[in-house]
Amino acid sequence: MAKIILTGDRPTGKLHVGHYVGSLKRRVELQNSGNFDKIFIMIADAQALTDNAENPEKVRQNVIEVALDYLACGLDPAKSNLFIQSQIPELTELTFYYMDLVTVSRLQRNPTVKSEIQMRNFETSIPVGFFTYPISQAADITAFKATTVPVGEDQEPMLEQCKEIVRKFNSVYGDTLTEPEILLPDNQACLRLPGIDGKAKMSKSLGNCIYLSEDPDSIKKKVMSMFTDPNHLRVEDPGKVEDNPVFVYLDAFATDAYFAEFLPDYQNLDELKDHYRRGGLGDVKVKKFLNNVIQAELEPIRKRRQEYQKDIPYIYEILKKGSETAEAAAAQTLSEVKSAMKINYFEDKELIAMQSAKYHDAE
Ligand code: TRP
Repeated sequence: MAKIILTGDRPTGKLHVGHYVGSLKRRVELQNSGNFDKIFIMIADAQALTDNAENPEKVRQNVIEVALDYLACGLDPAKSNLFIQSQIPELTELTFYYMDLVTVSRLQRNPTVKSEIQMRNFETSIPVGFFTYPISQAADITAFKATTVPVGEDQEPMLEQCKEIVRKFNSVYGDTLTEPEILLPDNQACLRLPGIDGKAKMSKSLGNCIYLSEDPDSIKKKVMSMFTDPNHLRVEDPGKVEDNPVFVYLDAFATDAYFAEFLPDYQNLDELKDHYRRGGLGDVKVKKFLNNVIQAELEPIRKRRQEYQKDIPYIYEILKKGSETAEAAAAQTLSEVKSAMKINYFEDKELIAMQSAKYHDAE
């Protein structure tokens, strides 16, 4: 069976370091591993509109930002198909048919939908499109026969729901769709990077993100202002590294090579953590190290982005080509789905022959 990747992001803002360690970095590694037959990376504008119906301009402006962030991180259009969700009408068509296989109560139980409804104060006025986006996400995944979906852990319930739809479809209409596997980040700290304020999630509206395209000064300011252990008041005090955002970031980013380069007094993160726990290590020193590490990670990304920014029409060319390739793949799956569901009237010679025979015999 072909190994196929499908994943994507909603274009509601620029991508931040949480996206990077949670998913983008891994995607680039997977792309360059040569282990996959096809890779589809989708800018999920249609999904972004499910809770931004009144902000079409925001979604439209962020499509290019996300595309630039993708390319900057090292996604290569020669190896990965970058495309825009709304340009693939087959996805909406699949969604409509999958809706027949999902109950309202199952959607209500989807933990991601549940918490997003709360976050957006949608309780009494949920847009139907938003409520059903897990079904549309199942269409995104299955349209490309994806075997592997690299995403952050918040997407786990979406993948569960997708698998259920696949199983249901295949049991009702015969083996047609491919069941995908989720691929989570392998480093625990990367599962969910907290905001610089220590809040559980980085989010644009909370203003607690470090963006991939952010300039070095502003990154430094953010790192130096990061929340740490509130009880670590003086340098001599013992500090806590668990749930301390500075150390969670170091867990995600700091390799031994960075210690050799920027903080050679310590061999590795374990030694640094031990010192912090014992007391005698100040937050400023740790933050300065973290700043050096993040700057080193983000500099090549920012440089590549600046190159791509010089030719925006070329980026749209990439997205257009990617969307054409993606549409061809989705059209193939849709045609298989329609024959499985017996709604392929004009291609079904047997159906026509059988029905003519029926009426001739009756004559
Ligand atoms: N829900 C994802 C996000 O919020 C975006 C997305 C849409 C997606 N369709 C997908 C991710 C299919 C993986 C597979 O970022």
